[in-house]
Amino acid sequence: MRLRKLSYAGGAEITGVDLGKDLPQVVLDDIRSAWLEHLVLVFPEQEFTIEQHIRFSRQFGELEEHPLKNLQGTNYPEIFEITNEPVDGKPSETGEIGRQWHSDGAYTTRPPTGSLLHCRALPDVGGNTWFANMYMAYETLSPKLQELLAGLEVVNDVNLYYRRGNGSRSQGKVEEDSKANPPVIQPMVRTHPETGRKALFVSEAVGVRIHGMTEEESAPLLQFLFRHSTRPEFTYRHYWRRFDLVFWDNRCLQHLAPKDFDFSQVRHMCRTTLTGTPCGRVEAALG
Ligand code: SIN
Repeated sequence: MRLRKLSYAGGAEITGVDLGKDLPQVVLDDIRSAWLEHLVLVFPEQEFTIEQHIRFSRQFGELEEHPLKNLQGTNYPEIFEITNEPVDGKPSETGEIGRQWHSDGAYTTRPPTGSLLHCRALPDVGGNTWFANMYMAYETLSPKLQELLAGLEVVNDVNLYYRRGNGSRSQGKVEEDSKANPPVIQPMVRTHPETGRKALFVSEAVGVRIHGMTEEESAPLLQFLFRHSTRPEFTYRHYWRRFDLVFWDNRCLQHLAPKDFDFSQVRHMCRTTLTGTPCGRVEAALG
């Protein structure tokens, strides 16, 4: 197994390993250590089946079903399919997923540990995924602001993404998703349970306001944090090749899937998602 760093902000390419095969524990341990250190691992040329994708992923934890139930796709509950291909003759509802910076499941009280995204079809150019290192975002803030953020929480609401006109989902399904996923309150800074490092935890896609403040009062600080956390020097941009498997740590990253390609060409990805540990609380539960 060989490792090559991909950027200052994170990312490492790992070659010389076939993820479709049974791997000895020592190799899995090395992969996990590399993942914690580099945050995004890229495994090229992994031409495996969906079953092999699921089997490889399970070795890093339990797999969750997507919280937006009717977005799932495929017959495998563990697979979240992201495609711009029509489904049953209708426009795909996942074709516009991830167009704003976010950390997966930040609008739930169990944000995932990580995700493993496999590229099955790709346009001629573009279709990239960007990652932002949220350790760096936190560590580059002044100590006074770090102190302030330690006492703040953010309200995340999946509905915000749709309210802004993103996504291509029917009104009925949006309402269903919103009902099943009420706004949650999350800490603005979280400590990574495995590395012990602090990471900023804000997501432009779903971050509505600072808990206890109005949207107007919250906006200047939130807008600053959204901008700051995705500064180019904190990012790694992944240029996909077909059959890349990209494995990222959701606890210290945000990501974005820009619409940087010809939408008449197919972009088809399959994702497994590692179940996280409880974090945050539902806002309505407070009364
Ligand atoms: C996502 O997981 O948000 C989508 C990433 C991608 O399609 O590149």
